[in-house]
Amino acid sequence: MANKITKIGVFTSGGDAPGMNAAIRAVVRTGIYHGLEVMGIYHGYDGMIDGEIKSMDSASVSNILQRGGTILRCSRSEAFRTNAGRKKAALNLKMKGINGVVAIGGDGTFRGADVFYKECRIPIIGLPGTIDNDLFGTQFTVGYDTAINTALDAIDKLRDTAASHDRLFIIEVMGRDVGLIALRTGIAAGAEAVLVPETKTDIDRVIGILEKGWKRKKSSSIIVVSEGDKTGGAYEVASRIQKKFKQYKVRVSILGYLQRGGKPTCMDRVLASRLGVAAVEALISGKANMMVGASHNKIIYTPFNQATKHHNDINPNLYRIAEILSN
Ligand code: F6P
Repeated sequence: MANKITKIGVFTSGGDAPGMNAAIRAVVRTGIYHGLEVMGIYHGYDGMIDGEIKSMDSASVSNILQRGGTILRCSRSEAFRTNAGRKKAALNLKMKGINGVVAIGGDGTFRGADVFYKECRIPIIGLPGTIDNDLFGTQFTVGYDTAINTALDAIDKLRDTAASHDRLFIIEVMGRDVGLIALRTGIAAGAEAVLVPETKTDIDRVIGILEKGWKRKKSSSIIVVSEGDKTGGAYEVASRIQKKFKQYKVRVSILGYLQRGGKPTCMDRVLASRLGVAAVEALISGKANMMVGASHNKIIYTPFNQATKHHNDINPNLYRIAEILSN
């Protein structure tokens, strides 16, 4: 029988994502609702090691639901990769009486949590918070919807300039390992081509698409490139296209970190709220070492080692749709 949860800790880790604050608020208020004490752990795993742990109450999460970033800060911790670092983190949690933890983050956060749980046995539940949407066990991660809408808004604006100046814009969006941001924004923005890490990029084929458009008097085009595409980034794509396709004035725009900030969308706020409640109630019911997710209107639980192993693969049908509609 699992020990009764009385005091939980919550932290955010990895890259920040819009909706993390909404998730923190949901965790804190659900904990209090169920009569638990709640502690905030600052700066992710680094703060767990350094003992940056403070008590939270309902008021400490007032007026944060609509704010981007994370009030608990986050980090990518090198120290937590070491045995000594994790030992110190476990000791700090035990000294504070924390007997359950909610980790809000992505792939790296949950890989760390998996090792940590197996070593120290403090129950830990993951809440998927990353703009990349690259976790298996949830249809969407908190932050993804906001990020794709931010990127889409920027691409629409660049389309105005592309059309006014008869230019080809190569736009790079985030996604180091997966092309989900590129694929969705590419479809929604009507991009002529979408380049992602999951498929081999054939620049000659892309040039073929542009030439076809040019013959039809299309004078501006958009190509969306995922940061992780193997061609070598937007500048490399631009230079390879420009060499062979001299008619176009090619410009590059890298959207970068602006995709990680900003007010979370309604979708992200609701998802964060649902998952925050589910994460705390999972701990109370004795669950550990797994991620809560939402799929087809249901809350589901996936062990950390599965959530992180299988990326939320690219939907081949979406890729096909992007190709058909770029004609
Ligand atoms: O949070 C995910 C992500 O946005 C990736 O798509 C990107 O490659 C990475 O973070 C870069 O983040 P940082 O510079 O903070 O490590």
